[in-house]
Amino acid sequence: MLFTDVIRCKRDGGVLGKEQIRYFVDGLTDSSIPAEQVSALAMAIFLNGMSFEEAGQLTRAMASSGTVLDWTDAGLDGPVVDKHSTGGVGDKVSFLLAPIAAACGCYVPMISGRGLGHTGGTTDKVESIPGYLSMPDFKLFRKVVKSAGCAIIGQTSDLAPADRRFYAIRDVTGTVESVPLITASILAKKIAAGLSALVMDVKVGNGAFMESDARARELAKSIIGTAATAGLQTHALITDMNEVLGTSAGNALEIAESVRYLRNEQREARLDEVVLALCGEMLVASGMEDDRGAARKRCEDAIVSGAAAEAFAKMCAGLGGPADFIDRFEHYLPRAEVVRPIHAEGYLQAVNTRAVGSAIIELGGGRRTVGQDLDLAVGFSAITGIGSQLDRQQPLALVHAATDSDADRAQRNLLAACTFGHEPPAERPVIYDILTA
Ligand code: URA
Repeated sequence: MLFTDVIRCKRDGGVLGKEQIRYFVDGLTDSSIPAEQVSALAMAIFLNGMSFEEAGQLTRAMASSGTVLDWTDAGLDGPVVDKHSTGGVGDKVSFLLAPIAAACGCYVPMISGRGLGHTGGTTDKVESIPGYLSMPDFKLFRKVVKSAGCAIIGQTSDLAPADRRFYAIRDVTGTVESVPLITASILAKKIAAGLSALVMDVKVGNGAFMESDARARELAKSIIGTAATAGLQTHALITDMNEVLGTSAGNALEIAESVRYLRNEQREARLDEVVLALCGEMLVASGMEDDRGAARKRCEDAIVSGAAAEAFAKMCAGLGGPADFIDRFEHYLPRAEVVRPIHAEGYLQAVNTRAVGSAIIELGGGRRTVGQDLDLAVGFSAITGIGSQLDRQQPLALVHAATDSDADRAQRNLLAACTFGHEPPAERPVIYDILTA
């Protein structure tokens, strides 16, 4: 088969056959199809779409391109369940929800991604913990899932390797925002992880890949429907991404905020709502609870009792991180050279959240090219939410940068991304809907 024929077929709006998709996925996996041809097909799919059938085939082929985990013989006494987000800015939900769900009796083998487009990646964030093995072998991964109840790791070379390469190429070729490609990318990893249930956080808004409600619903339905063909029970929440989630955006800064949350010291309201709703839904989707109210209460108890913080600490130590990370995270996390407030006047009316993500990439906290090293310390903290009144006392945020000139540019970018006014804007919900089938 000539791969140019596969590209031409999709370029001209055709439907790819099973053999063509298999040929593509094999070539992705063994790198026999070069990046320029992968990019060309990605762009053709982005522009012309894929049928439900094609997306299902791409998902299954990518899921079986490497090891498929099996937990049946691991001796676990609870369901194997996970959450996955379609990506946002300041999204640190995984670091909270995985240990909370573990403290509630679930097992969460979370295989996460790196930054994609303007969004941050869980794997990059967790690598700001010194010593933490984000790419352990499967033996250690299984051991930590069993002992801590959760393990957050990156996509190792043996797990859905086709997606790993495709993801890195899509990241830098403007081909991320495609319903079939996002569906296949997410589900390939989740099917390969051997889950019994999945909860999706489908983000909608100007910081999400899906900017409109209709597109977010289309993606949620595509993921739920495609997952069902592989026997994976999936629920989806549609959640707001029209501003940074929580008070920080940037790799190490988000880990710091997560620890303060798990210590029950600082739980920003919108982040808290998303965490409790998604984590509660994990208990419902996996059959641990029938009732959403009871599930949520169980999650809250796991935070307040310290059980969730304990699960995080066990996971961290089990994967090579400091045993006292929860107590001394400030000592361990990297710090930027320059930290200073950004001031503005008036009510914060709206935020161009994608531009905030791009500002972090410009600071060095996200990638412009495949494989680029990141500055994990940079970003924004103490970010005020939409509706806040700003003045000389109350800054918009703190910028963390490597140099003064980087900080100056990030300040200009952040201020340009924000709209200010004399009145507070109307309140918006953070959870828009829950879809179960
Ligand atoms: N998350 C993924 O894992 N893949 C995508 O394509 C988008 C978000």
